[in-house]
Amino acid sequence: MVAGIMMALALTVPAQARELPKLGQAPLQQVVAALTLEEKISLVTGQGMSFPGLPDDMQAPVVGAIEDHVPGAAGATVAVPRLGIPSLVLADGPAGVRIEPTRKNAPGKTFHATAFPIGSALASSWDTALVREVGSAIADEAAAYDVDVMLTPALNIHRFPLGGRNFEYYSEDPLVAGETAAALVLGLQDRGVGASVKHFAVNNHEWNRNTINARVDERALREIYLKGFEIAMRKGQPWTVMSSYNKLNGTYTSESTWLLTDVLRKQWGYQGLVMTDWFGGKDAVAQMEAGNELLMPGTGNQRKLLRAAVADGKLDERVLDRNVTRVLELVLRSRAFKQAPHSDAPDLRGNAIISRHAASQGMVLLKNDGATLPLAAASRLAVLGDGSYEVITGGTGSGDVNKAYAIPLAQGLQNAGFSNAAGLGERYASYIAEQTPKRPTTAWYLPKARVPERAVDVAELAQLAQQQDMAVVTISRGSGEFVDRKPENDFQLSDVERALLVATSKAFHAQGKKLVVVLNIGGVMEMASWRDLADAILLAWQPGQEAGNAIADVLSGAVNPSGKLADTFAIQLADYPANDGFPGKVLLGPDPNDKSIFGQIARAAEVEYRDSIWVGYRHFDTRKVDVAYPFGFGLSYTDFGYSDLKVEGGEQGPVRASVKVTNTGKVAGREVAQVYVSAPSSLLPKPAQELRAFAKTTLLQPGQSQVLQFQIEGKDLASFNPELGRWVADKGRYSLRVGASSRDIRAQQSFDKAEASNYTP
Ligand code: BGC
Repeated sequence: MVAGIMMALALTVPAQARELPKLGQAPLQQVVAALTLEEKISLVTGQGMSFPGLPDDMQAPVVGAIEDHVPGAAGATVAVPRLGIPSLVLADGPAGVRIEPTRKNAPGKTFHATAFPIGSALASSWDTALVREVGSAIADEAAAYDVDVMLTPALNIHRFPLGGRNFEYYSEDPLVAGETAAALVLGLQDRGVGASVKHFAVNNHEWNRNTINARVDERALREIYLKGFEIAMRKGQPWTVMSSYNKLNGTYTSESTWLLTDVLRKQWGYQGLVMTDWFGGKDAVAQMEAGNELLMPGTGNQRKLLRAAVADGKLDERVLDRNVTRVLELVLRSRAFKQAPHSDAPDLRGNAIISRHAASQGMVLLKNDGATLPLAAASRLAVLGDGSYEVITGGTGSGDVNKAYAIPLAQGLQNAGFSNAAGLGERYASYIAEQTPKRPTTAWYLPKARVPERAVDVAELAQLAQQQDMAVVTISRGSGEFVDRKPENDFQLSDVERALLVATSKAFHAQGKKLVVVLNIGGVMEMASWRDLADAILLAWQPGQEAGNAIADVLSGAVNPSGKLADTFAIQLADYPANDGFPGKVLLGPDPNDKSIFGQIARAAEVEYRDSIWVGYRHFDTRKVDVAYPFGFGLSYTDFGYSDLKVEGGEQGPVRASVKVTNTGKVAGREVAQVYVSAPSSLLPKPAQELRAFAKTTLLQPGQSQVLQFQIEGKDLASFNPELGRWVADKGRYSLRVGASSRDIRAQQSFDKAEASNYTP
């Protein structure tokens, strides 16, 4: 009745006098109804982007939000001011806010952001509270620079060490990857900045990433490649998801209704928005229909296609309305909509402290013979290796950060009170300065070539070994978007690096002195052939801008290392099942007439994931393959004892377990306890064990204990049976194994399931 009167009144008011429905004031439906078709299309396609080499139909002027307001941000959505819809700014990325550090409209002023440790380093901390804190620090910088959505976390599985973007991904294991990603999402969103969980899904390598078709069986998808995303969705509730570039089983992920609607929304209950990766996919109409609501960065061609598709009935306008609604739901949550103020002055000092702390927590001590580390105070060191003087703080491409500074190891050691051999730093500095201009040039979007390692000078090393107490050699590796790593001179040492380690080891051992190797790397490398040369090895990762200080914190013992490997370090590349068929095969070569950057990649390529679920330790532990360092491994300057394992439940529903961890050594430290479960064999082949839970102690003083609690849901004991289309936890005897690594099980107990349990996907 009342509604009827209102309607009658509305009809009598002239259109121009009626108030336009404003976002946030009027119901969403009314706002959507008030949009013109052109406005709707502009809301589902971003503001555009322009750079050299982009095909003409993809070039779009970068306007307003990015160019004038946040230069260097990755993209922006379109505003419709008449309905109160602001534009949102989206920026990379996983190691911190990636924007231009200077602006034409603010001469003399800088806009730096903190470079945090890379994803692999964060994951190696196994400390989700710490990752959440890093997420909040990144969000605070994003908010200071008026960014609404951060294009992170990135959590594709480390399927094979040569994956060019492994550095910004987390782990070979979906539980570690998913929990780390969820923590980062929560940290960002705690501070009102949206996250974008990327790249959904199966973007595990860079080779032909825009056209490759990854063929993966459904069990591997569910258990390995989608599982981490599922955890991140359920626990983190990200505002956005970014679909990936590749095809999955024949369909672009951004055009896959199965992936984006059936799995993501219907099965996992996801409520947020899906955007494409930049210029990802081909068919804008299929993307709209599949549930990829926002096309980024947005091109004129996409708008043209969508216009035509609505006009000739190929795209139902109701699909567009649904997608626009989801874009507006995102806008409603944003800082831009709330008109949150920004300072352009983030707390770079405070966040540098967080970055340094996070970096030290993710470092993994791989070897420490004869208590080589921590270094004795004021040790006189011979600091060797180019990487000791020119640190790699993170990867390149969208995972890079324009930071104010980077502390190399030589500097960090000096800050911590250690001395370097006189003149050695100057010799490295002049070598690097002389070589830098001689590097081969690479395309602007590719990682820059590195200066080759300074050649070995045996006489110099002999003298250093006499004068100094110990040698520290840094081995560095960079990688980034667009290219995968190589076996030679990357996964393996270069000849000069090997010669440097051999000669340094020989010279210092001849004097009864030791060699410490620091690995400043973004992903797994070959170690078995050279690790015997070193007395201690610290995996420092690419630790962000405070690198040198953070590494010195661990080398000096100011921080007791507590990171553990979230990846297996195999003996050789051929030991990874994914080596077979990597990176894939070309089905149709590059188009010789395409002069754009896309003209360099194959028009069609394919990779078959023959390794199925046998990724990482699931393969190495089940098939008993020797490894250099197992999954979950990491030493400490103290020791830990495990006792009082208690396991209850599991017959149906969750299993609860607790274990007491005691610091049995002489210095304070933290321990990561890992819970693996071996399931009874069934119709499906089962891994020998799978990580089902983990926890990290607080800093335990010598003699101090902590009881760690774990809960494993019934579904997390199950394997996905593709024929039945559901998860099945078989009946039979399960073994719960608590370990300090996947190959160092300290306590175990079994429990029985009398009946199998089934779970829908
Ligand atoms: C990357 C994304 C990134 C986007 C925007 C793409 O090349 O794959 O991870 O967020 O660019 O910069």
